[in-house]
Amino acid sequence: MDTHLIDGVALARRIRDELRDRVARLAARGAQPGLAVIIVGDNPASKAYVRNKVKACGEAGVRSIHVELPESTSQEDLLGRIAALNADPAVHAILVQLPLPAHIANEAVIAAIAPAKDADGFHPLNVGRLVVGHPHVVPCTPAGVMAMLEAEDVNPWGRHAVVVGQSNIVGKPLAHLLLQRGATVTICNSKTRELGRHTARADILVAAVGRPNLITREMVKPGAVVIDVGINRLPDGKLCGDCDFAALQGVASRLTPVPGGVGPMTIAMLLVNAVRAAERTLDPEDAP
Ligand code: GUN
Repeated sequence: MDTHLIDGVALARRIRDELRDRVARLAARGAQPGLAVIIVGDNPASKAYVRNKVKACGEAGVRSIHVELPESTSQEDLLGRIAALNADPAVHAILVQLPLPAHIANEAVIAAIAPAKDADGFHPLNVGRLVVGHPHVVPCTPAGVMAMLEAEDVNPWGRHAVVVGQSNIVGKPLAHLLLQRGATVTICNSKTRELGRHTARADILVAAVGRPNLITREMVKPGAVVIDVGINRLPDGKLCGDCDFAALQGVASRLTPVPGGVGPMTIAMLLVNAVRAAERTLDPEDAP
């Protein structure tokens, strides 16, 4: 079987091109989407992700407000920063890069972001809206995965989807989105016994755990669509996903590469969320 590689770079570019019209329409009405990106500390991977997000904003005509805070920032200070951004009408969307330093409680920070400005869709109100099937803001990586499936004409309806990873950022929201699109969904985690027996039953397999080469050839059903969300840095500096990319050639019908798969889609969907948040301030009912 030929394995078709899903080109996340090309699809993300298409989505970003489409956004340009929406940004122009907002500009014609005197509005520019504003996205605040807050990073606390010096985690090199997080800093690289944030740099990419800020750069993408510039290219899309989204104003970015980049807030870099030292590792020693107190939770109270961070909550104060968020309150100020919540109150700023030029800021339509706010993202706090995770993970945060251990002395700061993720939940308190996420809950402090105004739900209407929640760029990630992590606020409990937005999580609830997604779980009941009326999503308001869809988390960026799961939204990117769903957009990839749609662009590839992969309809989850009636299919068995297996999501390996149960994070609040990817696994859980993605499982709900797949369920809402009619898939039968299995969520696996690090405690799952005989992981391969579950993954081998997947028509759509998503790996989102952050373990290089976790998904091997024997764990994939011939013809499955495999989406690799993992981004791992190997000792030699190279990036790789959670799947054994070379071994899945000829087994998977479709496969996302790392890099160049889900990563660029996450950034494109963040821009979508920021633009949508700005549109909603002008047309609360009409924003797509
Ligand atoms: N850290 C890793 N992925 C994400 C994401 O999508 N959003 C935020 N805020 N932090 C992350």
